[in-house]
Amino acid sequence: MRIGVLTGGGDCPGLNAVIRAVVRKGTGYGHEFVGFRDGWRGPMTGATLPLGLDEVDGILARGGTILGSSRTNPYKEEGGLEQIRGHFADLGIDALVAIGGEDTLGVAKRLTDDGIPVVGVPKTIDNDLGATDYTFGFDTAVSIATEAVDRLRTTAESHHRCLVVEVMGRHAGWIALHTGLAGGADVTLIPEVPFDVEQVAGWCKQVSDRGHAPLVVVAEGALPEGGRESAQHEKLDAFGHVQLGGIATWLADELEQRTGTESRAVVLGHVQRGGTPTAYDRVLSTRFGLAAIDAVHAGTFGVMAALRGTDVVLVPLAEATAELKTVPRERYDEAQVFFG
Ligand code: F6P
Repeated sequence: MRIGVLTGGGDCPGLNAVIRAVVRKGTGYGHEFVGFRDGWRGPMTGATLPLGLDEVDGILARGGTILGSSRTNPYKEEGGLEQIRGHFADLGIDALVAIGGEDTLGVAKRLTDDGIPVVGVPKTIDNDLGATDYTFGFDTAVSIATEAVDRLRTTAESHHRCLVVEVMGRHAGWIALHTGLAGGADVTLIPEVPFDVEQVAGWCKQVSDRGHAPLVVVAEGALPEGGRESAQHEKLDAFGHVQLGGIATWLADELEQRTGTESRAVVLGHVQRGGTPTAYDRVLSTRFGLAAIDAVHAGTFGVMAALRGTDVVLVPLAEATAELKTVPRERYDEAQVFFG
């Protein structure tokens, strides 16, 4: 078979490890590969890259994606589906491996329904995809954010400041929850549980009163009770997402006014998505890639590789994109034991 491979949506560490596994095992089966550039833009415009054993040599530990990525949505573009069909026919593509998050996999599901054979691989630092226990990229993002928290704590303690650290995750609080637990945050705020600013200030005051510098981890999508998420601007992307950000700056101001302790905001931003994947993410990405190419080889389409416990299984794409996986209340209650 001649198999296309693409990476769509926000990049994350581990994408290259998936590509390598797909190509290494698939070449062994006798398949050929075509790399599509920049997410769904590649199949729509016919922009490709050679993708063989030479191209995947040495990329296991490299962050980002050798194929490039974009948030292009073919179903939002006039004639998008026809363009994809046309380029697949011209290039002799028999099947596609699409590596992405809810948006990319949502398109993969629609393409499958429209008769294009696709197998998905779940990626996102947000870990918000249903049907898989973990996505790769999440462990790396949490490790980076935890290291930042550890470092911020020492400077906060020196200056008796409160530090409010904003992490990514969109509408799910997984990165914040795990970073808060791993970094010993004094307060962790997630989108799933709107917060009371007075109560947050109270927890911070308790920490200051004990002679320590309060450290708050806040998810970019967290919101105060009765308020709304902080967005950078009103513009939406091709999948209807707003660009979140700014909650830490707002919260640091509010906390300073209420507690009298100097409070600063630190926004970790894209540093959480950059650089080399952790060992855990390298292994998970590799296993997902192997499962995906096995599915293509077996002619099983409309499915996604997923982690269930310690097993990698195939689940229908429909299941993977049905609903966002958010933090359950009982997981947040675990973190709350350490507040204040
Ligand atoms: O979905 C991954 C993610 O990093 C989110 O956590 C974040 O809200 C968003 O992507 C940022 O997107 P962009 O890179 O387009 O600014």
